[in-house]
Amino acid sequence: MDLVLVPLHKYPEYLQKCCDLINSEWKRSNTARLRSLEASSDKLPTSLILLKGDILLGHVKLSPLPSVPNSCFVESVVIDNSERGKGYGSLLMAKTEDYCRKTMNISVIYLSTKGQEGFYCKLGYIECMPVSLYGEFKGIRQNDFSISKQTIKPVIAKNVPAPPPVPVNNIKVTIKTYMKKDL
Ligand code: ACO
Repeated sequence: MDLVLVPLHKYPEYLQKCCDLINSEWKRSNTARLRSLEASSDKLPTSLILLKGDILLGHVKLSPLPSVPNSCFVESVVIDNSERGKGYGSLLMAKTEDYCRKTMNISVIYLSTKGQEGFYCKLGYIECMPVSLYGEFKGIRQNDFSISKQTIKPVIAKNVPAPPPVPVNNIKVTIKTYMKKDL
């Protein structure tokens, strides 16, 4: 059976199924998820779905990355739980790269992951510095960090009780690996 990768906004009949697929992996309210998927368009952000006949197998979202020209940020890559380990994830990424190159003139893909580094490494992604998803990166200037001596005023706290210690269990550290691939 044919496997095709198509933009979700051209196949709105898969919206709810796609919502359920993503929510089965990353729980979020149905309304919020639908709203996010409904934002898909020919311009980024774009949600792409992998179909086998009329069966929804996977999803990937391409988001804009204004700080890097001709790039996108790949998110929410997911293959239906019962279909994993059969090569569909690799196919989803290969078709996504084709779509990026041919349809969107994108020449570099970025993503971040926590736990799937091995999967992306097999597909040719390499670890890179974190990228910002927001705004244009203009570089860091010396002045961004310099503080004039006149502007520093000592703040002397009088009779202010020390804050309570933060319980160690409440600290959640999420370390993500950023990866990229030149197309
Ligand atoms: N670590 C190392 N190797 C891996 C991993 C992993 N976590 N996952 C898969 N592989 C390997 C497979 O063994 C296979 O190796 P082979 O070619 O030597 O046989 C190869 O990668 C390709 O595997 P596929 O069968 O194509 O992958 P699959 O269809 O299972 O899809 C996916 C992989 C998309 C990660 C799937 O497991 C999934 O949906 N996981 C849950 C959601 C998730 O974590 N998505 C990624 C989030 S990160 C992001 O969105 C940018």
